[in-house]
Amino acid sequence: MNKISGFSKLSKNDKIKWIISNHFDGNSNEKNLLKKYWNNDKKIQRIHDDFSENTISNYYMPMGIAPNFNINDQYFTIPMVTEESSVVAAASYAANFWFDKGGFKAKVQDTEKIGEIYFLFDGETKILKSFFKNHKKFLLEKTSHLTKRMKSRGGGIINIQLFDCTNKLENYYKIQVTFNTADSMGANFINSCLEEMSAVFLKKANEYHPFVKKKNEIKVIMSILSNYVPKCIVKAFVKCSIDQLSNTKNIRSKDYIEKFISAIEISKIDTYRAVTHNKGILNGIDAVSIATGNDFRAIEAAIHSYACKSGNYSGLSNAYCSNGEFTFELTIPIPIGTVGGLTNSHPLVDWNLRLLNKPTSNQLMQITACVGLAQNFAAINSLITTGIQKGHMKLHLINILNKFNVNDELKGMAILHFKNKKITYESVYKYLKLNGI
Ligand code: MEV
Repeated sequence: MNKISGFSKLSKNDKIKWIISNHFDGNSNEKNLLKKYWNNDKKIQRIHDDFSENTISNYYMPMGIAPNFNINDQYFTIPMVTEESSVVAAASYAANFWFDKGGFKAKVQDTEKIGEIYFLFDGETKILKSFFKNHKKFLLEKTSHLTKRMKSRGGGIINIQLFDCTNKLENYYKIQVTFNTADSMGANFINSCLEEMSAVFLKKANEYHPFVKKKNEIKVIMSILSNYVPKCIVKAFVKCSIDQLSNTKNIRSKDYIEKFISAIEISKIDTYRAVTHNKGILNGIDAVSIATGNDFRAIEAAIHSYACKSGNYSGLSNAYCSNGEFTFELTIPIPIGTVGGLTNSHPLVDWNLRLLNKPTSNQLMQITACVGLAQNFAAINSLITTGIQKGHMKLHLINILNKFNVNDELKGMAILHFKNKKITYESVYKYLKLNGI
């Protein structure tokens, strides 16, 4: 196979033609499979084609719904996009469990986002500091054409600071800019402001007499938002009287709570457990983020790095008992938005946001944090009682049955047959063989 140049400029059909002939020996079935996943509505297909470069088909992910979320005394039906079979079921279980125990409560504590201009400077820190002080206002003014609209929506630039990082890396300084991006996730806005600011900063530095006189040079290395957002924080919690946990999975509430709190304590001190614990939280958060058109990689990065803020990676939720009450809580950063990006262009994202009553970004932070907490509750609840495989395997069974294309009647029979039996690929295969597949 030869290197191809100008691939992105080919039409969609020509791209597919090239792929099929170079990777699938020209087999037209392979092309037909790709085409099966195209949308019949050309307008919708066009929208999806344009999301990314070199689109050749659509990759379906299930969009499910977790009903019965009582959040701050409002009821939500939550859209979740995930391929992991048990995630929606787990969120729904937890929503249902907490619904009439006061529900979930959530509060946004802070919404600051950070962008930075990273540069090297080979002169005296004192002179740089005075240059920065004298030009700070100017730098802000020069981005006003970019921040005007954001300001009218309640956002904008909150602060700019110079940091001397030369103790970490020779000649290394940075300008840290703090933003409020209102209802947008704000990545494009932040990066545009930073690039504009860094160009102005460099131009002014090159003209600055004390630098010119001493032949000092500022070398801007890069300007980019940071996905570490320890000041974009939301807290979610559930609370109930200890007695209300008494019927949970047939263990006494005292034993249940003790095990629950131990599970949390282990996540605080054991990295192997902490990462899995937090992954469970993110199962829910990612699913809501994708359903609402948000950058789940940014959210993952923000949350995992926050889990490490003390220097030790640790579990993010807390559980404790006081005055006869059990509290389970989660405090995390969630840089999320409800305007801009995919929220404007993906018809299902728009539908999902309408399902959620068109939340502001703060409301979506609260909703998403509650789903993360719900997911974590469901996981710990299963882990300390029945184990998670019981629930997982039920859904795994359906996936295996679908793989063998079984009809509804046999599917129903198989579900009944495996109700109290161990589900493995082999056991299901054997059962299907016996039943004529
Ligand atoms: C599986 O996707 C998530 C869990 O492993 C989370 C956890 O262990 O807490 C069940």
